[in-house]
Amino acid sequence: MGSKKQNINRSSNWLDTPELYSWLRKAAFNSQGFNPRSYENKPIIGICNSWSELTHCNQNLRQLAESVKRGIWQAGGFPLEFPVISLGEYHMKPTSMLYRNLMSIDVEESIRANPIDGVVLLSGCDKTTPAMLMGAASANIPSILVTSGPQLSGRWRTEPLGACTDCRRYETEFKAGKINEQEWKEIQNSILRSPGHCMVMGTASTMACLSEILGMALPGNGTIPAVDSRRHQLAEQSGFQIVKMVSENITPSQIMTNKAFENSIIGLHALGGSTNAIIHLTAIAGRLSIDLPLDLFDQFSRNTPVITNLKPSGQFLMEDFHYAGGMQAVIKEISPLLSPEEKSVSGLKISELATFARNDNKAVIKSLDDPIYPEGGLAVLRGSLAPKGAVIKHSAASAKLLNHTGRVIVFDSHDQITDNINSENLDIKDEDILVLKNSGPKGAPGMPEWGFLPIPNKLLKKGTRDMVRISDARMSGTAFGTVVVHVSPESALENSAMAAVKTGDTVKLDVNKRKLELLVEPSEIKNRLKNHTNDNPKKESGYTQLYKKHVLQADEGCDFDFLRNPTK
Ligand code: FES
Repeated sequence: MGSKKQNINRSSNWLDTPELYSWLRKAAFNSQGFNPRSYENKPIIGICNSWSELTHCNQNLRQLAESVKRGIWQAGGFPLEFPVISLGEYHMKPTSMLYRNLMSIDVEESIRANPIDGVVLLSGCDKTTPAMLMGAASANIPSILVTSGPQLSGRWRTEPLGACTDCRRYETEFKAGKINEQEWKEIQNSILRSPGHCMVMGTASTMACLSEILGMALPGNGTIPAVDSRRHQLAEQSGFQIVKMVSENITPSQIMTNKAFENSIIGLHALGGSTNAIIHLTAIAGRLSIDLPLDLFDQFSRNTPVITNLKPSGQFLMEDFHYAGGMQAVIKEISPLLSPEEKSVSGLKISELATFARNDNKAVIKSLDDPIYPEGGLAVLRGSLAPKGAVIKHSAASAKLLNHTGRVIVFDSHDQITDNINSENLDIKDEDILVLKNSGPKGAPGMPEWGFLPIPNKLLKKGTRDMVRISDARMSGTAFGTVVVHVSPESALENSAMAAVKTGDTVKLDVNKRKLELLVEPSEIKNRLKNHTNDNPKKESGYTQLYKKHVLQADEGCDFDFLRNPTK
C-alpha cells in the first residue's frame, strides 16, 4: 500500500500549489526532522488527541497515539498528532457538558483548517467521545474513533467495584452509618485501579460500545480494557485502516446513516446504556441533518430487551463484558433486530461483523429469548409536566416506584438542595417526590448531572434507599434509582410546566403508560406561569453567554442551533 498513490486531494490544496506557503509548509515539516520521503505523495493523517492530565480517563491516549502512528506508517500515511480541549468529568465545573459543543467545534475546526486527509479521533471520558463524533460529522473527512478503553474492575477486599455506581452506593451506606470512615477511605483507594474510563455501562462505556454498532470504530473498541495489549493492537489497526479509508474516501456521512443510528438506538437499549446517550446520539445525528425524535428511542425501547447484565442496571463490569465477547457478541445476539447492510470503518457490514463474534458467557451477555429485562432500559415519558418529553432509566429503578403518585418537594436550585436536604426541619416522607428546577441546558447552564438527587439523611437512616426524583438535569450513566431526567421544556424557559410546579403539588409517574403528569388544573398552571419570572437571570459573558443563547433543549440533543441540521 505504501507505494500506491493515495487520495490526497485535500492536503494537496495546502502542499502542492504554486504559492510560497506550499513551499514553506514543506519547510516546516523538514524543520520537525521529517525527510521529504516521510510526507511526499502520502495522505496526511491527523491524530486528534484529547489527552490531558486533567482527564484521568484519557491518560493512556499519548501511548495509544504512538500505536496509531505505527499503523499509519505501515499503511503508507504520514501521521501528525494534534491536541484538542479535553473534558474531564470529575474536575470540570459546573459540568463537562457545558463544554461538549465547544470541544466539538475545536475538533471540527482543527480538522477543517489543516492539511489533513483523514483523522483518527482519540477520546475516552464521557463527553470526549460524542464531541469527537460531532466534530468529525461536521468536518466529514474520513475518520475513525479509538477510545481509551475501560479501566480494570475496581476491587475492595474481595468485592469487585464499579465506578461510579459503587461509589454512590457506598456513599449512601457511609451516610447511613453502615460503613466507617476507614472503610470509606479504603474504597477510595480501591475503586480506580488503572488508566481508562469508568468500567460500568456508564456514558463513556455506552458511547464507546455504540461507536462499534454505529460503525465509527473497529470491533473491540468498546470493551478491550485500557491496559490490555490488544488495545494497542486495535489502535495500530485503526491507524492502518484510516489510510485505506482515505484511499477509498469513506466519510462519516457514509457510515453514520439513518439506519446506522437506528441500529445504535437498538444497541443502546440492549446494553441498558446511559440516558446521556440519547442526547449525544441526537446531537451527532443532527450534525448530519438526521432527526432522531425522542419517540423513536421509545419505539425501539418497547421492542428491544436489555441483554447485558452490567452495572448500573445489572451485576457485572466492563472487563467481564469484554471476556464474554463484548459489543460484537451483543450485535450477534440482537442481529434479528438490526439493519444488516450498514457499513463500518472496518470495511465490513454489520451482518458480516456479527459472523465473527462469540458469546462466551451467557451470565453476562444474555439473548433475546432470555433477556435481563424484557424491554429497553430507557423510556420516554410525556405529560403535563414534560410536554416535550423526559427520560427514565427504568432498568435501574425500583420496580415498586415505576407507578407512583406523590406529593412533590421542590428545590429551586442545586445550592438549595445541598443546603436543605439534610435539615431536620425538612417536612419529607419516603413516598414524596423530589423535584429540582433550574438545572437544564440554559438554567444551570450546561445541564449538569444533578438528577441523582440525594435522599435526605433522616430517611436514609430509616432505611429508604430510593425515591422518585424529577429534574431538568441529566443523570450520570453510572447512577441508578427512580430518577426522571431531561424534563423538557426546562424550568428556565417561560411557559414551562416545570417552572410552575410547587411544593405540595401532586405528580403522577406511570412508566408503563409513559406518563408524567402534574395533577394541577391547567388553568392554575397557566395562572402561575403568568406571574412567573426567572428570579435568577444571571448575566453571563464569553462562552457561557454564547452557550445560553444558542443551546437547544434536551430533546434536540443540546447542540447549538447554528450547528444542527446544516443542510436543512
Ligand atoms: Fe471519565 Fe467516568 S470519569 S468516564
